[in-house]
Amino acid sequence: MEAQHLQVTSGLSFAEPEVDALLKHSVRTQLESLLTQKLTVEQRVQQLQQSFVDATTLVLSDTETQHQVLVKAFDAMYDQAVQSMALAGLSQALLTRQYVSASGLIMSPHNCKHTIKDVYRIKGYARGIDQAIQSKLKHVSSITVLYPACGPFAPLLLPLLSYYKDSQKFTGQQIQVILADVHPGAILALTQLVKDLQLDEYILCIEEVDATEYKPKESIDLLVLEAMQHGFTKEGQLSIAKHLVQFLKIDGWMIPQNISVRGMMVIGETEFNQQWKEVEYSHSLNTDTDAQRDRVELGELMSINKSTLLNMQELELQDGVKVIQASQVTLPVDVDDMDKRILAVYAHIDTFAQEGVGQYDSGITHPRPDMTFYIDTKPRDVEHTHFVANSGDTVQFYYQLTGLPGFVPVKV
Ligand SMILES: C[S@@+](CC[C@H](N)C(=O)[O-])C[C@H]1O[C@@H](n2cnc3c(N)ncnc32)[C@H](O)[C@@H]1O
Repeated sequence: MEAQHLQVTSGLSFAEPEVDALLKHSVRTQLESLLTQKLTVEQRVQQLQQSFVDATTLVLSDTETQHQVLVKAFDAMYDQAVQSMALAGLSQALLTRQYVSASGLIMSPHNCKHTIKDVYRIKGYARGIDQAIQSKLKHVSSITVLYPACGPFAPLLLPLLSYYKDSQKFTGQQIQVILADVHPGAILALTQLVKDLQLDEYILCIEEVDATEYKPKESIDLLVLEAMQHGFTKEGQLSIAKHLVQFLKIDGWMIPQNISVRGMMVIGETEFNQQWKEVEYSHSLNTDTDAQRDRVELGELMSINKSTLLNMQELELQDGVKVIQASQVTLPVDVDDMDKRILAVYAHIDTFAQEGVGQYDSGITHPRPDMTFYIDTKPRDVEHTHFVANSGDTVQFYYQLTGLPGFVPVKV
């Protein structure tokens, strides 16, 4: 029985500190469900695998699936993945340790586990990756895929690989995946999940490394990366992509193929509140025409793709901080209410071919208000971190590659 297996392998009862920590961190319900369902190991693993196959089957289908059906399938996959994580035996310290590295936030496995429920992000990536793999395998017999910063569940690939295995679409001889993450807790959970999903044949190796320093031995056909947060801040997507792009084969592809980061001036109430009053959930298909028309777009601040990454020049400032030059924007002059607007930065992700993740489809593409950027007005308390400019001014944006990555505007 799985419940017995849990107690035997962990060697702990519920009163012990390690398990108490898990109980405190919402894994409790999953453990309880394991105990009450009295599943055998085989039954649990079977349910886990099925949930991964089901969610992927829905997102790869060309028939539109209702939002609620997708959410239910992804919740089921999440529940099963968390059960697997509960069996990986992470201590409280490993489960919750979160810190800032030189290139960005390293999120704890506890906080990362939710990304497997981010339906439209996974849909955009899985559909893109599926097409990229199909295209590659038309010309070669096997490919190597690198997925750095993959987190405890590697949700952009493990569901897809489960689907390939179940449908026998592609084998482990055709696809070899390198999973990499710097967090030892993520590695433990990942190792357990790969074992539970019985995907070993597809996994070349699982590496515990900082992706900004990793040098894979193999040359890479597909580099799958998602280490970003809204407004293209906080996490190290750019530093990781910039370092690893050099290990792609000449004809290798990055997924996403392009990230376009854009700026706009919005009335906060219209953009973030009124726009969503009447809709069931936020998604690029549910945006409101009037709210969209009310935006003042500033244009693209930066585009991140294989070619821009290979040509990107770093500028090192006196204190050793590295920045990348982004776009220059001239602030429009004909906007009456500019002094009431705030800057919002958002991303549009093209994963591959026609697939992508649009604004509001996911937390990572959600516009992020920047409350330090003022045009035609001054904040009550001017702090040195505030940027103050006037309509008609030209602003040069830079992107800082620090532990807190993000855009820095400078008046030209
Ligand atoms: C939000 S989680 C998982 C994101 C995952 N790519 C997904 O698709 O859901 C972020 C993970 O990225 C890892 N990470 C962040 N920066 C990293 C770096 N420089 N090297 C390796 N792993 C990194 C963290 O340890 C964490 O497990």
